[in-house]
Amino acid sequence: MDTLTLIQPDDWHLHVRNGALLKLVVPFTARQFARAIIMPNLQPPVTTVAMALDYRREILDALPAGSSFTPLMTLYLTDNTSPAEIKKVAECEHVYALKLYPAGATTNSDAGVSEVARVYPVLAAMEKFNVPLLIHGEVTASEYDIFDREKLFLEQQLSDIVKNFPNLRIVLEHLTTKEAVDFVQEASDKVGATITPQHLLYNRNTLLAGGIKPHYYCLPILKREEHRQALLKAATSGNPKFFLGTDSAPHQTHAKESACGCAGCFSAHAAIELYVEAFEKENALDKLEGFASFHGADFYGLPRNTRKVTLHKQDWQVPKTYNQASLELTPLRAEETLSWQLAPASLD
Ligand code: DOR
Ligand code: ZN
Repeated sequence: MDTLTLIQPDDWHLHVRNGALLKLVVPFTARQFARAIIMPNLQPPVTTVAMALDYRREILDALPAGSSFTPLMTLYLTDNTSPAEIKKVAECEHVYALKLYPAGATTNSDAGVSEVARVYPVLAAMEKFNVPLLIHGEVTASEYDIFDREKLFLEQQLSDIVKNFPNLRIVLEHLTTKEAVDFVQEASDKVGATITPQHLLYNRNTLLAGGIKPHYYCLPILKREEHRQALLKAATSGNPKFFLGTDSAPHQTHAKESACGCAGCFSAHAAIELYVEAFEKENALDKLEGFASFHGADFYGLPRNTRKVTLHKQDWQVPKTYNQASLELTPLRAEETLSWQLAPASLD
């Protein structure tokens, strides 16, 4: 097969930052995806509907002329989020969910939730108003091994959340383990999950064997091959609980290539191409459209897209960096050849 046409996909987990970096990265996503769930971990975090609406305006202002890309905004859940704010979310057509970062789990998560029990009244309001909870599922205490943090979160926290709020819609973001796949499969249909391209394509050897490769460092960290295999199986299974979320998380090259490098892979430049590569290797291209274009929309209760995009099997080289004034971003797979390419202006 050398041409692939599918309904335009959506990205259900995306970081676009703000300021000049936002202007550099937003067009990459808008080229490919119809909509994206925008993560709120800015500094300061996006904690109110009013802040989310300002942030949305900044994203819309960065879109290329004629783009119909729609940012779907989220709020950052903190110990101080009020149940009253949840009612505002439910009434706002532009804000779709709240994101739970355990405090200290990842980039800009200092304002995150210190103890899940503290936000139970807010979760009750979310359940009542049918507002989804998006979760970075890792425990944070320093005694826990970084490779076990997702699994321990399922055992120590998520099982209780699911039990206490059976009608709360939950997206476990960026799955990285077999245990997380099993958890989502066994949970009710209120629980869905996103999977990134890097967790489908790479294991921890890519990051660590033969030298540390900082552009493959993200959180949750890449795991063993057996976990990657479980993620591939889930993504290509056709199960509607699993859907596309790139977690494209741009950090400037100097912040990644550092003695204390930031977590996050920038993948928005080639997101759909990377997923095509992963699905093709599994002989599962027929399952891509469900994963990329239908399951997420169905889970969020939004209409499916109707436009189509086309990809061609055609080699292209990912540039070493993307630059804008003094900004420099190193993309995932920099200077490597990808074998699929999204056709330009393929929207009709
Ligand atoms: O690798 C990551 N980068 N994981 C996250 O959870 C956050 C993200 C970021 O914002 O940089
Ligand atoms: Zn993220």
